[in-house]
Amino acid sequence: MSRPTIGHLDPAFVSMMDELKDLLHYAFQTENPLTIPVTGPGSAGMETCFVNLVEPEDAVIVCRNGVFGGRMRENVERCGATPIMVEDNWGAPVDPQKLEDVLKAHPDARVVAFVHAETSTGAQSDAATLAALAREHDCLTIVDTVTSLGGTPVLVDQWGVDAVYSGTQKCLSCTPGLSPISFSPRAVDAVKARKTKVQSWFLDLNLVMGYWGSGTKRAYHHTAPINPLYGLHEALCILREEGLEQVWARHTANHLALKAGLEAMGLEFLVREKFRLPQLNAVMVPEGIDEAAVRARLLTQFNLEIGAGLGDLAGRVWRIGLMGYSSNPGNVLYCISALEAVLGSLDAPIERGAALAATQRQLARD
Ligand SMILES: Cc1ncc(COP(=O)(O)O)c(C=O)c1O
Repeated sequence: MSRPTIGHLDPAFVSMMDELKDLLHYAFQTENPLTIPVTGPGSAGMETCFVNLVEPEDAVIVCRNGVFGGRMRENVERCGATPIMVEDNWGAPVDPQKLEDVLKAHPDARVVAFVHAETSTGAQSDAATLAALAREHDCLTIVDTVTSLGGTPVLVDQWGVDAVYSGTQKCLSCTPGLSPISFSPRAVDAVKARKTKVQSWFLDLNLVMGYWGSGTKRAYHHTAPINPLYGLHEALCILREEGLEQVWARHTANHLALKAGLEAMGLEFLVREKFRLPQLNAVMVPEGIDEAAVRARLLTQFNLEIGAGLGDLAGRVWRIGLMGYSSNPGNVLYCISALEAVLGSLDAPIERGAALAATQRQLARD
């Protein structure tokens, strides 16, 4: 990323853009021609999907089981459309039965939006099932894969989803500020058939594709973030070198090692085992413990950052990320021993002296 910044229409850069698209096809497991990194963080990818696919007065079904489903609702409202909510508890996945009921009750709905991997809770929803239901009812799907891409399977073509967006700073272990997206041919047709202009000039895919489109003819839209794109290119090469199957297996193995240590301490997960994201571990804070003090000690004494609970879960959970490069056995062992030391120093009601051994035993199984 510290290499010289070349021009955004330099032939060498244009060929790197083509490679980036190929690498993203692999990461998303798709052949969708419209698969590119949007300039801007995950929120820009989210907004790209909504502003391009939603028109004023559309009915859009939004599944909410955490913070980011709430942001989808905001996007729908800001497009001048009507959100129809499917609500699930924070920590639970989206319930397909609830979605089906809402789809039946609202035959006018055009789009279904849901978060595959809810970063605020650590729950993963069944994207294939939700997408199949949406298709049966003639709806396009918008799917948030910010935390899943490069951590757990994101199978865009197999799932048959229409618009997905992600981020670079989670399991791709790149710097923040870019948002890979992929649109199915059906979604591209919907963008082209719009009755109204996309209200965001910057995120209008009809215009952005003039720059990212195929062939040698590229037109200036906005100046591409050259150096961050070098970084994404490298991150995606690393992903391809390791291989998706291997990457998913590594995230699972390190999650299981962390789980063994946490459970040996007597700590509990927020999410039921079946729906847990290996890359985002939401752990219940023990009774009587000041969760912020624990995070502050971990940071200042151990240089280790874990996340706080968001929204309704603030003060009730910690969120331990094992994403991308950081999902490795060394980090798991370090986290378990630092957490036990800090909780011990605060006289927390935990089992002492068993966690590291449990973690090591689990690691030895792999
Ligand atoms: C599930 C989910 N969606 C969207 C976003 C927004 O991404 P960004 O912060 O890169 O704009 C995040 C960020 O954490 C996220 O976890």
